[in-house]
Amino acid sequence: MAQLQWFPGHMAKARREMSERVKWVDIIIELVYARAPYSSKNPMIDEIANNKPRLVVLTKSDMADEERTKEWVEYYQSLGYEAMDVNLKRFKEYNRIINQCRRVLKDKMLKEQQRGMKPRAIRALVVGIPNVGKSTFINALASKKVAVTGNKPGVTKAQQLIRVAKDFELFDTPGVLWPKFEEERIARNIAFLGSIKQTILPLDDLFIEAMKYLNVHYPKLLEDRYQLSFDLESDWILSVFEHIAKVRAIKKIRGETDYDRVIEIFFNDIFDGSIGRLSWED
Ligand code: G4P
Repeated sequence: MAQLQWFPGHMAKARREMSERVKWVDIIIELVYARAPYSSKNPMIDEIANNKPRLVVLTKSDMADEERTKEWVEYYQSLGYEAMDVNLKRFKEYNRIINQCRRVLKDKMLKEQQRGMKPRAIRALVVGIPNVGKSTFINALASKKVAVTGNKPGVTKAQQLIRVAKDFELFDTPGVLWPKFEEERIARNIAFLGSIKQTILPLDDLFIEAMKYLNVHYPKLLEDRYQLSFDLESDWILSVFEHIAKVRAIKKIRGETDYDRVIEIFFNDIFDGSIGRLSWED
């Protein structure tokens, strides 16, 4: 696959900003995609976490393979993380995240009070790669907020905390982190999640990669969505394009099949979940 573009400058800036914010929080809520919980988890957080507790939340669980998701949650728990999966489209699931933070920090908050400190709200930072659901999470909670907190020492205006419950505050802007694209497999999976601007992607290569993967792991989804089945041993690519174009009634351009439109339709189905539940990692 052609090399995906990479911007080390952005990475360095994101890292600096994040390290600064981490100092002010009790817990980091790390959002990763349930469809690719390894590729979408940024290893840089290990370096900037400053020993703060971390809750790994696998988002968009409604779009992922349930079995795989369960295994990934257990995997992260086995590494010592707090971990859970959620569907952020369901507001009632938000309480599970907040309650988990409360549980993790119960002892710390209690100790502070025993040492004579005033009871205070838990402060959390939400981080994740683009499109993982950070704004969905923060905006939904912010719209229910109890009150906007005043400035805290060291917290700049651009980094305000919002109180989302009596005992719980969030930074109002999420931390955007890019994963390392060094491994081709990771770059590919991130592209499959729809987190990268499509204009910079080698979409035809990705189409072929995605088709191969689905044919091996989720042939039923291809069958259900496009009445498509094919044999990877054969010369399948052109016939797959033709088939989808026909099934989805894609207009020809000057008598030729519109391959770009086939790719666009296919990835829309992937990104918005209409293809069905699937995971890119096992
Ligand atoms: P970001 O801030 O991390 O970049 O992500 P954002 O919240 O903007 O979420 C990206 C898209 O993912 C949004 O869809 C959002 O609704 C959707 N989304 C977030 N969490 C979930 C989830 O758990 N399940 C599902 N199915 N979708 C989720 P959008 O089409 O861009 O916007 P909208 O029209 O839904 O508002």
